Amino acid sequence: MTQLATIILAAGKGTRMKSDLVKVLHPLMGRPMVAYAVDASLEGLKAGKTVVVVGRQGERVQKALSEDRLTFVSQHPQLGSGHAVLCARDAFRDYDGTILILSGDVPLVQGETLKALAAFHQREKATLTVGTTRPPDPTGYGRILLREGAWVERIIEERDASPEECDIDEINTGLYCVEAPFLFDALERVRADNRQREYYLTDIVEIGCHDRRKVLAFEIQDSEQLLGINTRIDLAQAHQILRKRCLDRWMLEGVTITDPATTYIETPVTLGQDTMIYPNSTILGKTVIGRRCTIGPNCVIADSELGDDVTVKAFSIIEESHIKRGAVIGPFSRLRPQSQILENAKIGNFVEVKKSVIGRGSKANHLAYIGDTTLGERTNIGAGTITCNYDGSTKHPTIIGNEVFVGSNTELIAPVRIGDGAVIGAGSTITRDVPEGSLAVSRSKQNNIRRWQERRRKKK
Ligand code: UD1
Ligand code: MG
Repeated sequence: MTQLATIILAAGKGTRMKSDLVKVLHPLMGRPMVAYAVDASLEGLKAGKTVVVVGRQGERVQKALSEDRLTFVSQHPQLGSGHAVLCARDAFRDYDGTILILSGDVPLVQGETLKALAAFHQREKATLTVGTTRPPDPTGYGRILLREGAWVERIIEERDASPEECDIDEINTGLYCVEAPFLFDALERVRADNRQREYYLTDIVEIGCHDRRKVLAFEIQDSEQLLGINTRIDLAQAHQILRKRCLDRWMLEGVTITDPATTYIETPVTLGQDTMIYPNSTILGKTVIGRRCTIGPNCVIADSELGDDVTVKAFSIIEESHIKRGAVIGPFSRLRPQSQILENAKIGNFVEVKKSVIGRGSKANHLAYIGDTTLGERTNIGAGTITCNYDGSTKHPTIIGNEVFVGSNTELIAPVRIGDGAVIGAGSTITRDVPEGSLAVSRSKQNNIRRWQERRRKKK
């Protein structure tokens, strides 16, 4: 197959989404919708020149895709899909080969499908091939009017169709293979004489037929891949399909997912073999999880890196953190951004960690807040310990050495430094540095008043 160029349409307003955000940037399993079409084109099809037509919030679309292999062109104002493709003409001035056109709002399409469409088009030496399919419900899509065999006569948008035409179950998927010289010539001739007053890309079919060109339909069997996202209902459906695809992929890679119905793993996440995911777990963004980890039930992990053999027990929430091999988190732990939990460390229930390093084998097992702290190795943080890192205007660091014992209910008023091997008596408020190997206690002396109850009773 000769290398193709592609055009990805991503300029449309997306009115039916009822959103301030342009449609193609709506997040879909951790990536902007349009990124899927771009991937299918660049990675699946290995397309050559790839032009993305952007319009409303074009700069944001460009930034979200940030890909050197893409050429961006602008469409202002957005006068329809035909006008959008015409805006890409200058990018193809020296090109007379085949162009594959994709819609930024058809994200589930696979590279293999694009390849099959292109191979058919080239084998048939067609001028234009329209990718078609027969979804369970064709409502909303353009319908394919066939002349004979695979020859297409016209595509009629549902809005402009008669009731009989609406009965046609073969629809336009928004994927086309077309010869560049014909494409741009035909688009010059498209008129906006339809209900929407738009320049429809689909009208090039009728123009091709008029010119006696070979205009064919290539029917794609798996209609699920061709779901077009126009409303939030379509978006939810795409989420469900992608979610299942992603879970199936990881199970085939050797990950146990005990309840796929309640597990949500976004597309960019990677998981190691023999990891177990328990119900109701949500793993988001660029998270990387190692081998033999145990996650959940009921955990949320976002944009974090977990080494091998990490355990995240029930109801823990982890964001933008690094957890090294053998560490145990939870139940009920919260790791906020920039936390590093080193090898075999333990963070237990109702412990919140923020922007801190917890050294190898150190433990904070119950009820603590550790913020802006560097903790050494094999240190124990007692229940109720709080690093008071914020004085109301500025954040200050706490540095705790190796093999320190911090007694329960201790406040460490930052900035403060606790030397290696120091012991802090329970209930202390530590305002000054504690030298290595020292015991620090700061609490008022206990006063026992003997026979106090007896004397009180007598007074009464
Ligand atoms: C389009 C097709 C329809 C097909 C369906 C498949 C047309 C006229 N209709 O309808 O036959 O069944 O896709 O999903 O093409 N766009 C621009 N600039 C514009 C208008 C649209 O770039 O001025 C882009 C959109 O961002 C989108 C794509 O073109 O990615 C399709 O536009 P959309 O408005 O969603 O068309 P549909 O009504 O879905
Ligand atoms: Mg659409």
